[in-house]
Amino acid sequence: MQGFRIITPSAFDGIFERIGKDWMLLTAAAEIETGERILNTMTASWGGMGILWGKRVAFLFVRPQRYTDRLIGASERMSISFFDEDYRAALRLCGTVSGADTDKFAAAGLTPLDAAGTPVIAEARYNLICRKLYADTLRREGFCLPALLENYKAEDYHHVYVVEIEEIWQRDS
Ligand SMILES: Cc1cc2nc3c(=O)[nH]c(=O)nc-3n(C[C@H](O)[C@H](O)[C@H](O)COP(=O)(O)O)c2cc1C
Repeated sequence: MQGFRIITPSAFDGIFERIGKDWMLLTAAAEIETGERILNTMTASWGGMGILWGKRVAFLFVRPQRYTDRLIGASERMSISFFDEDYRAALRLCGTVSGADTDKFAAAGLTPLDAAGTPVIAEARYNLICRKLYADTLRREGFCLPALLENYKAEDYHHVYVVEIEEIWQRDS
C-alpha cells in the first residue's frame, strides 16, 4: 500500500488510550441486500486487544443495529483504523450518522483504499488488517454485575467479534 509501511505489532502499545480516548474506525465491505458490494465505517471506543488461541487479536463490541455490524458479520476480513487528533471531527461524524443513509467517507473527508480485498482508510495513521475468527452475542444471563444491564434497555446486546490482527500498516507522512 503506497504511503504506508508494515510495522511489528509490538510497536503498537498504549492500547487503553488508543481505543478509549483516541477512538477507532471499524471498516468492512460486503455484498448484502442487492448483491452490490457495500462499504461502510463506524467509530468504536469499546474493545480491546490481546492474545487468544496463540494469536494477536482484537475484541470488538458492535451493537446489532449498526449498519457496519451487518457488513462485519458478512465479511471474512475487516480493518481497524487509528487516526491523529486532526481527524477527531471525522470520527465523531462516523459515530453519529449511519452509513445506511449517508456516504460517511464523503461526509467525513475520508478515502477508502483496498488492501488486497480488505477496505482500509488512506488518512489513518494505522490500519490494522484483521481476519474474523469468532462472532457471538452477549447474553443477559452472562452478566455478573447486573448494573451493567443499564446499557441494554433496548435489549440490544452487543455482538462480539474476535479478529486476528494480521498486519499493521503505519502511514509514513
Ligand atoms: C466515540 C464513539 C464511540 C463509539 N463506540 C461504539 C462501539 O464501541 N460499539 C458500537 O456498537 N457503537 C459505538 N458507537 C456508535 C456508532 O459509531 C454509531 O452508532 C454509528 O453511527 C454507527 O454507524 P453505522 O450505522 O453506519 O454502522 C460509538 C460512537 C462514538 C461517537
